[in-house]
Amino acid sequence: MKNLLKLMDLSEKEIVEILNTADQLKFEKKNGIPHRLLEGKTLGLIFAKSSTRTRVSFEVGMFDLGGMSLFLSSRDLQIGRGEIVQDTARVLSRYLDGIMIRTFDQKEVEALAEFGTIPIINGLTDYCHPCQVLADLMTIREYKGNFKGRKLCYVGDGNNMTNSLIVGGIKLGMEVSVACPEGYEPDAELMRWAKETGRFSCSPDVLEMAKNSDVLYTDVWASMGQEAEAEQRKRVFKSYQINDKVLSVSKPDAMVLHCLPAHREEEITSKVFEEHSREIFDEAENRLHAQKAVLVKCLL
Ligand code: CP
Ligand code: NVA
Repeated sequence: MKNLLKLMDLSEKEIVEILNTADQLKFEKKNGIPHRLLEGKTLGLIFAKSSTRTRVSFEVGMFDLGGMSLFLSSRDLQIGRGEIVQDTARVLSRYLDGIMIRTFDQKEVEALAEFGTIPIINGLTDYCHPCQVLADLMTIREYKGNFKGRKLCYVGDGNNMTNSLIVGGIKLGMEVSVACPEGYEPDAELMRWAKETGRFSCSPDVLEMAKNSDVLYTDVWASMGQEAEAEQRKRVFKSYQINDKVLSVSKPDAMVLHCLPAHREEEITSKVFEEHSREIFDEAENRLHAQKAVLVKCLL
């Protein structure tokens, strides 16, 4: 695997291979078995947006694998003063063995990959968040044992998380439903692709979409970059919340996931969040193991 730009570029087999590697690296970490597979390798971490989990999991991940990472805030790089991405890609390719980038425009990530000669990993754009969804799939498999025939329901804004969950869930054989207000649907092209499988639905009706779910998922109503719309979005998304009522129509053993950060009493109630905190924080931990698996696949 050369890059991880979006999940659509990966086959089911490649995704499962990443999950298997992640499971193995998790087992080795828990048992103190060293796995310095990237000894001497360097990873640049470009961030144009804030991060807790992505930054820490990639930094610790590189350390565990025997490599090193450099945190590169795009505010401090010349890219923040207008140096074009094509030149940044060609320069950084001379110093580093790989780049993880979190930014706004998916095209910027694609341009880095086109003009650079080293692996590029997408650490979130406005369009998608593939690294998060690999950790989510890992967590679903840990709790449920399999994917085929399972139903994942996403409640909330049709954003970067939704786009990647649709692709990851559908590719692994799940049924995916999305409950979102009209005008806030996921990417239209992705929805067309997903609908062709007969395993995708999208509607403003939360309880209808959540019916018989094995996995309930939500994310913030206003993503990074949408801060100015936050108040208006609170009104639009008021009823798009994971709460006891939504759980009551799901399977009795449904799990609840959230990529975090969470806004309690907005997209999820405190009660549901705390009752499902075990799987939510397992999911957060799995960022580390899943990101290490991606690094091994791309950089080794
Ligand atoms: N879920 C996630 O990507 O978290 P951060 O924004 O903290 O990296
Ligand atoms: N949709 C959120 C995800 C954060 C991990 C955002 O883009 O801010």
